[in-house]
Amino acid sequence: MFTAFVWAITLVARYAIFYMISYSLYVLLNAHAMSELNEWNCGPEGLPLSVRRYTYRKEDFPQIIDLERERLYRSLHPIRTMTNGIYHDGNLDSLEESEDVVEYVVFSIDTATYNRDFLDPNTEPNLSIHTTFDRHINSLAVKMILHEHEELSIALESAMGDALGPMGLERSIYHYGSTTFSVANGSKEPDAAWGPRRTPPGTPRRPTVVVETAITETSAKLRRDVGRWLDPIDGLAKIVLALKADRRRPKITIERWQYTGANTEIELVQTIEIIESSPGDEVAVNGGPLLIPFHLLFLRPAEPPREHDIVIDEQELKDIAQLIWEIQLSD
Ligand SMILES: *[C@@H]1O[C@H](CO)[C@@H](O)[C@H](O)[C@H]1NC(C)=O
Ligand SMILES: *[C@@H]1O[C@H](CO)[C@@H](O)[C@H](O)[C@H]1NC(C)=O
Repeated sequence: MFTAFVWAITLVARYAIFYMISYSLYVLLNAHAMSELNEWNCGPEGLPLSVRRYTYRKEDFPQIIDLERERLYRSLHPIRTMTNGIYHDGNLDSLEESEDVVEYVVFSIDTATYNRDFLDPNTEPNLSIHTTFDRHINSLAVKMILHEHEELSIALESAMGDALGPMGLERSIYHYGSTTFSVANGSKEPDAAWGPRRTPPGTPRRPTVVVETAITETSAKLRRDVGRWLDPIDGLAKIVLALKADRRRPKITIERWQYTGANTEIELVQTIEIIESSPGDEVAVNGGPLLIPFHLLFLRPAEPPREHDIVIDEQELKDIAQLIWEIQLSD
């Protein structure tokens, strides 16, 4: 009788512990899901479910972009309001509450229409957008380019120039800007891209290093973009530099994703964080300097002593960060 009692208690305790553990896990996982957009709360493009979706029509496309850019602009720029004699940045609060400020808008479009309206070399794009077309899901994700996206790419371009100058190679690369490239499963425009002017025989002229800048890009979207660019058959890039300038605090993250050759996985090889903990504090750079392996950019080995891997040092990274924060905080 007593044995049966002990047995029952043990059983109950065991279940209690089991449920406590599962419940804690459940809470933990959900908290994580809420703080970071991931595969489970994203649409097919890896963007938040709240992203605006339209059916593409050539005639109203420019207006929709204008409208969405206006909306994005409003959500990013604090409007000072006053109640009871106290100022508060109404929009900063709402920024903190919603994770949903996204610089993207999505259009459903078929391949033929996309080819007609977006791949015609005679139509000059004038909307300040960079697009990703996925032909499997008939989807065009449009990134609305903001001043800080542009500054980030340009700052990196010039840091790159500074690094190549002493090697005598500043004219040995192409700057592809935001040219449209076919990539795995569709087409895409980078925020900046570089590739060698002289390529090994049989290698197409394409960017080897691609830059993707974001203010609110989700990790799910980034993973897809990295996969497209580094795809060994259709992407052909070797490095994706993913730059994210957080809008809620002075923090810039630079990730270097790499594809180094057959039988290797696409790898996140370097993560750099540039942070200013509180206003006026010393800016900290963790994980720097930024390294771009020479052979992955130029598709040939470096010839020492003049040629070596490209290094963008911590001071340059701090300067880039200051520039971006100046833009983000001044308006
Ligand atoms: C360029 O801008 C004009 C006027 O805003 C617009 O009508 C035209 O469709 C735009 N071109 C493209 C390719 O979107
Ligand atoms: C291409 O699309 C297929 C089907 O949606 C997907 O499984 C695959 O991962 C995609 N490839 C890349 C490189 O994005």
